[in-house]
Amino acid sequence: MKKNKIKYILISLFSMFLFVSCEYTTIELTPPELPSEDQEISFAQYIQPIFASKCATCHITRKPILTSAGAYNSLINDGYVNTTTPASSTLYTKVLSGHPGGSQTSTATENALILRWITEGAKNN
Ligand code: HEC
Repeated sequence: MKKNKIKYILISLFSMFLFVSCEYTTIELTPPELPSEDQEISFAQYIQPIFASKCATCHITRKPILTSAGAYNSLINDGYVNTTTPASSTLYTKVLSGHPGGSQTSTATENALILRWITEGAKNN
């Protein structure tokens, strides 16, 4: 009887150990965060990387030029950005339409960043 009790305790402890060791930690997947409201959107830090990963493969010679060397000048000089009515900017309406489609489509977060950058004056910052 005593032996059984010890056995029982040992099994219980072992099961508890198993249970605890199997416990997993949930990894919080935070969505790519928008910079805080009081933070200005830097073209170099936030906008250019979107072009580099999603646009520059096609927009090398096609306007707007979206390579790191040419993007800012092309967007401004070729009229793709309208700081008076930011949401009407061709750059923004085009990405909002789902262009170019597939894996290179910009996300809602990226589109929001683009709009904020234009609203803040489309600076080369
Ligand atoms: C797979 C190739 C491809 C990719 C990637 C691509 N584009 Fe385009 N883009 C085109 C083509 C082709 C056109 C012209 C036809 C059209 O308007 O859809 C175009 C047109 C545009 C226009 C309108 C040009 C005008 O003068 O009216 C804008 C703005 C634009 N793209 C922005 C972007 C942005 C921003 C990205 C990245 C999020 C991007 N494109 C990714 C191929 C691409």
